[in-house]
This record gives sequence, structure tokens and C-alpha cells, in this order.
Amino acid sequence: MFKWANTKISSPNHRITCHFKLQNGIPFYSVTKGGEAIIKDSRLGFDICGVKHFSRHQAVKRFSTSSHDETIELPWGEERFIPNHYRELKVILSQFILTFRVFDDAVAFRYELLGLSDKSRVSISDELTEFNLDQNSLTWSIPAFKSDRYEYNYEKSYAYAIDHPVHTPFTVKTPSNTYLSIHEAALYDYGSMTLSPSPRGILKAHITPLSDHTKAHVNLPFKTPWRLIMIADSATSLTKNRTMYALNDQPQQDFSWVKTLKFLGIWWAMYVGEYTWAPGENHGATTAHAKEYIDATANLGIKGLLIEGWNNGWEGDWLQNGSNSNFTTPMPDFDLDFIARYASSKGIELVGHHETVGFIDNYESQLEAAYNYYAARGIHYLKTGYAGPEMLIHGRKEYHHSQLGVNHYQKAVALAAKKHLMLDVHEPIKGTGIERTFPNLLTREGARGQEYEGGALRPSHACILPYTRLLAGGMDYTPGIFDLKNPKRPIYTTIARQLAYFITIYSGMTMAADRPFIYKNHYQDLFAFVKLTPTNFETTLPLSGEIGEFYAVARKSRENQDWFVAGVTNEASRNLMLDFDFLDDGVTYNATIYQDAADAHYLNNPLHYAITHQKLQKDDQLQIYMAPGGGFAIHLSPQ
Ligand code: NOJ
Ligand code: CA
Repeated sequence: MFKWANTKISSPNHRITCHFKLQNGIPFYSVTKGGEAIIKDSRLGFDICGVKHFSRHQAVKRFSTSSHDETIELPWGEERFIPNHYRELKVILSQFILTFRVFDDAVAFRYELLGLSDKSRVSISDELTEFNLDQNSLTWSIPAFKSDRYEYNYEKSYAYAIDHPVHTPFTVKTPSNTYLSIHEAALYDYGSMTLSPSPRGILKAHITPLSDHTKAHVNLPFKTPWRLIMIADSATSLTKNRTMYALNDQPQQDFSWVKTLKFLGIWWAMYVGEYTWAPGENHGATTAHAKEYIDATANLGIKGLLIEGWNNGWEGDWLQNGSNSNFTTPMPDFDLDFIARYASSKGIELVGHHETVGFIDNYESQLEAAYNYYAARGIHYLKTGYAGPEMLIHGRKEYHHSQLGVNHYQKAVALAAKKHLMLDVHEPIKGTGIERTFPNLLTREGARGQEYEGGALRPSHACILPYTRLLAGGMDYTPGIFDLKNPKRPIYTTIARQLAYFITIYSGMTMAADRPFIYKNHYQDLFAFVKLTPTNFETTLPLSGEIGEFYAVARKSRENQDWFVAGVTNEASRNLMLDFDFLDDGVTYNATIYQDAADAHYLNNPLHYAITHQKLQKDDQLQIYMAPGGGFAIHLSPQ
């Protein structure tokens, strides 16, 4: 048993090394890439209620190392195959085990708390994990513990200037231009990790507390989520990091019934004031409107339709009255039985909706009945919502991202898996890759989406998401709004950019968010692209970009040999030179190019676009213009 120890483990390509040391009973780690210190000496450990100095009296009992190399096949997503290739170091300490995995593009570690002699359950009062970054690094993050959960604009600041807790993925550019993102994987039965400066000025895990001020109550032995540091040489290669999925377990049941979906919705009409969620003369979810939308959805060649505001609970100020929501009782003007039969006769999958407003006690008391209610009507997709600044669980106010919040989201996903329901969770817990284990969790929101348009979204926002939020998995951003100049909700993007979103922001359930009559009566040439875009890709190749400035990506469909290429820019116009070196040799592709017109501008001329056709082959180059707040999209199909 040693109170002083030192060891290290390197990635399969030897570029990244994780160092462990125990100094007088206190564990530390650090990370280097080549000669560069990525993470300097950082503390590890816990404080446990009622156990004095738990993490200060550790001794190393044993080290062991191993390696692992496999390719994982995912049923849907941005990529069919992802690598799971790492070298592992286990450090067996007196009271916990530390497992480090070092990949060619990441370091991850987790704790396993062992049984304490007299306890089978403990309360964690703090996790001591630090991330000792170069303080002159630039960082991108959203603030934590605020009433709109993850729905904030990203803040760009130097590491030394961070003075409040922030969520992960927390993205970093070091002074030597290495790109990192600190995140977690496999978050189960534990508070979500935010980062906060310690009194020493070092960023430290700040686990979301429960209302009793502890961080988590756990049964022993207990494995924490993985602490994950993604590491890349460029901003674009950071977006290709899939380690989060590799750190999650494979599915434990058959999920061959899971299918990604593109859908329309009785939705944006509420945002522009045509319809209301609440009952009344403009109620959206009526039998007549639903029938009309089903016909329009089928005519437009889209497979799914979301209907919001159909159940009892939307009366009056629904944000205040959510404790009364009933998830098995439609409003009197909505005949769900008929609509479910009608949708199925037209080949349309309905997407159900549960707005819980965070009243978890009310929702959980109905959860199984509510899922059965949909299942009995052949409804396989469900959008859920957790609006409101906190959750009400066991009669107490808790954070959405606390241990009790995490456990609620998990209960819903696991039950949905049993009932063959696929989920799109709004106001979710952040993604930590559990979709690998529960592929029925097709997407989440968990960032500002287009519902914030109308002034609260800057063009740079969608140029930050690929390097931050989207590292945590797919997002329901609700792309495809073409009615950009509606005074009730003006959208500050160009129209070509609305197409780009279908490719730059991946989502296993993707909503074409505008009303069907907009697509039918206007812009049918643009809607042709929306209709074609896959929701499941064989592979994804980030092409170029910088955080907050622009992002361009190519994705290959999983259904056929087609490629989709798209890009978005911030407030600045940009000419991009696209290289088509990824295309198949000897094949000529018919390319349809959707782009901003030369005079397009997100503020005063958003609707000007151009569509051109040309033939493209491997290694061809194409210069493409993006207007301020604009973007482009290209569909390539082999001739
Ligand atoms: C917020 C969600 O993000 C949005 O999509 C939904 O329409 C409303 N809550 C109402 O549930
Ligand atoms: Ca939302």
C-alpha cells in the first residue's frame, strides 16, 4: 500500500498521455498531447457526508492496464461506424477505483466507489475533480443554474474570466491552438456535472445539487459517469469526436423497431399567433385542423406529424397550471381516436406530445397509462417538454439536471423503450451518449433553438452549436422556417440557411417547422431539398469552420449513395472553396446547389436565393458564397 505513487498511460498512437499520481494520499491526474500540457495537475476524489477527509487518505493497492480495439455499429446517427480504441489504466485505491481510458482523440475517467465497511449507501457532498486548464485558453459555454436551463446564448471568454458555473460540453481553444471539449458520458443516477472555478481559480466539477444540498445519494458500489476530455487539432475535427458514444454500453434489448423520422407539426402556427395551445376559438389541435394537416403532410411527401396542445391541461396560463395536465384526456374538440386512424390510413406517423411543465409527480403518476394510451392508438413517436425553471419531484423543487431530474428522464426513456416509443425530449437533460444504449431516444432540444428567433438568436449561434452543444448528440432545432418576414416572429437568417440546418444540425427526429401551407404555396423548389434530406447518415465529414464564424459539413445518406453538403456563416459574408475529394472515384454526380443570392442579407433581404445545377466529380472544387447570416445546401446524386 503506497501513499505516494506515479504512473501514466498513453493513447494507442502514443500522442496523448494521461498521468496519475498519488501525493501523500491525495490523487491527481494530468494530460499531455505531444509535449503540450493539456490539463495540468488536477485533483480527484470526493467528499462524503459523515466520512472525514475521504479522499485524502487513499493508498494505491494495485495498478492494471489493458487495451481495447473494436468498431461499434450504431443503428442511426451521423455515423454508422465509430471506433472504440483505447488503452486503459485502473488504479485501485483503498476506497475507490479510478479507470482511465486514453483514446487517440480523448481522455476519459470514472470513479467506482467501493463498499465502505459500515455503509451500503452514502451521500456525496462534493466531487473534487478538477480540470486545470491553461488560464489563457479561450472558452465557449452557457451559464448553469438559470431559469431557462440550457437555452442561453453562448459566452466566449478566457478561462481565467469564468466566474460562474457553466454547463458542459465546455469547449476550449488553448493558446497553442489545441481544441478541447470537457463533457461527461453515461450520466445515470447522479447529478449532472457543471464546471465552476474553485477558490484556487481552477475549474472544478460542480455537481448539480439536490434540494437537500447534497450532490447525490448512491448505493455502493457505485460507478460515476465518465469525465470526458475530447482533444483535437482543429475546430472541425473536434466535431467528429464520437468518444461519448463509445463510453456508453451497448443496448440490452432489441431496438430494430427504431426508425428516424422527419415530421411537420401543428406547432409554428402557435408561435406566429395563428393557433393557440389553449382551448378557444383559435385552438390549434382540433380534429379539423389535424385532418387538414395530415392531408397536407401526406401531399408534401413527409412521413410524420406532431400535434401539440391536444390534451387537458393547456387551459389558461399553462406554465402555471401544469400540475393539472392529464395525458389521457383529449380536449373536447379533438378526437384522437379518429385522428390516429385517419393518420394511419394516410401512412402518417403521429408524434404525440406531453408537456409536463416540470410537474414530475403529476407526470410520473400517469406515465405508464399515458404511454399505453398512445401505444393502443398506434402512436410510436412522442415529443416531451419540461418547460419551467425547475422540476417538482416528491413535492420539492429540484433542478432539471440534478440526480432526481436525471433519474426521471431515465425512467421515461427506459419505459418508452419497453413500450416501443421513440422520444424527442425538449427541455431535456443534456446528452451524454445514452442513445447508444437506448436508441429510442432519437433526439433532444437542450439549447436555444429556432423557437428563440424573433431577435434572441444571433447568426453566430448556429456557428457555435456544432463545436459545443452538438458534441452532446443530435438536436431538435426545428429547421426549415420559410416565412421569414412574419411580423409576429421574424427570423433573422436567409432562406438558403434554413435548408443548411437540415444538414449542419443532426437530429434523429427532424421537424420541418413551418406550416404546411407555406411549403405548398411557396418555395416548392426549396422544399424539394427538405423532402430529400435523410435523418440517418452513413458518414459525416466536417469540411471547414471556426467556432462562432462558420461551419461546413458533408454527410452521406445511409439509404443510398447521395451526399449532402451544407454550411452556415455568422454575421459576416463568406466565400468558401469546397473540395469534393470525398466523392467516389469515376462517378459523376448531379449536384443541385441552393444558395444565397448576391444581395441576400439576414436582416433586410432574407428571401433572395438561387438554385443552380451542375455536374461534379471527385476532386472538383466549387466556390460558394454565403451572405451575412446565410448558408448553402447541396444535394449530390450519382448520375
Ligand atoms: C417548449 C418547447 O421547446 C416547444 O417546442 C414547445 O412547443 C413548448 N415548450 C410547449 O410545449
Ligand atoms: Ca424549449
